[in-house]
Amino acid sequence: MISNDIALAVTALASGKLCAIPTETVYGLAANALDETAVARVFAAKERPADHPLIVHVACAQDVTEWITGLPKWAADLSATFWPGPLTLVGPRSDLASDSVTGGQDTVAVRVPSHPIAQELLSQLKVIGVKGLVAPSANRFGHVSPTSAKHVVADLGEYLSANGDVILDGGDCQVGLESTIVLANGPAPVILRPGAITSADIERITGVRVSNATTNFPRVSGSLDSHYSPNAKVVLIADLADADFDPKAGFLALAEVPTPAELVRLGSPVTIEDFAHELYGCLRAGDELELAKIYVVPPIGEGLAQAINDRLQRAAF
Ligand code: TXA
Ligand code: MG
Repeated sequence: MISNDIALAVTALASGKLCAIPTETVYGLAANALDETAVARVFAAKERPADHPLIVHVACAQDVTEWITGLPKWAADLSATFWPGPLTLVGPRSDLASDSVTGGQDTVAVRVPSHPIAQELLSQLKVIGVKGLVAPSANRFGHVSPTSAKHVVADLGEYLSANGDVILDGGDCQVGLESTIVLANGPAPVILRPGAITSADIERITGVRVSNATTNFPRVSGSLDSHYSPNAKVVLIADLADADFDPKAGFLALAEVPTPAELVRLGSPVTIEDFAHELYGCLRAGDELELAKIYVVPPIGEGLAQAINDRLQRAAF
């Protein structure tokens, strides 16, 4: 059922149901993190492999200490600056974090979302003793993350309505890309997944040099080579002048780039922020139009542009 009633979502989650929730990054498929049966159903709904760990969402930065046993000073500085917001910290797990949440690892991922509806929901749940929600992106495993309630319906609507679960509609997600994931169990931040909080932001706040994850670092499903993929084949275009296009394919580029002849324009973001905000919706729109290919001119630059390029490369793999 799609609803905008937070009280209904609170009741559903507290009684073991799943609820797709809006966050500022993407929609998450939430369950009470301490309810093993509900957590197992999150994996079933997404068809997600059981060893891929989940992010625990809590109402405020202080609540994180219930899940993570100790954060280095630099990570506490990040939490004070960027929470609530699109940042996930991975640190040593407390006893609250079960193997089903952590994928059996000795670390747990936690974040404090800033979306007002997610904030209100988590605060109300806390009052009745629900200490956190697991919430992977509310898409089928490997598919494009949802940035609207409509996207959630397209991927999981049938499963959720058949099981009496809820979709809480909070409009379009502002950022549009998943949170930045930072491993926080050592002397320096390691970025496991780039996002709207950039390595420059992290170095500015912590004064510590960031390292990027080498492959085979702790499992991050979003770091699988092929992920975030629409049905259409995504083809990245480095140089428009050299490109040879199949006709009637989709096209996505910054607004300043004109549409090549015979291509179907899927989006014209004006800024890099718009690009991130619209990206997943444009990829899904290509599938709705049953296009076989989507050509994308990736934005150039540091920071958020890098996070967009990370997702585009995996979508194109
Ligand atoms: O923006 C977001 O983070 C969204 C919204 C809903 O909060 N959630 C999200 O969840 O993207 P998901 O499950 O699609 O991606 C979470 C990533 C996974 O790739 C998972 O492997 C990684 O976080 N992760 C979770 N726990 C981890 C851990 N202990 N060590 C390393 N990676 C971990
Ligand atoms: Mg995901």
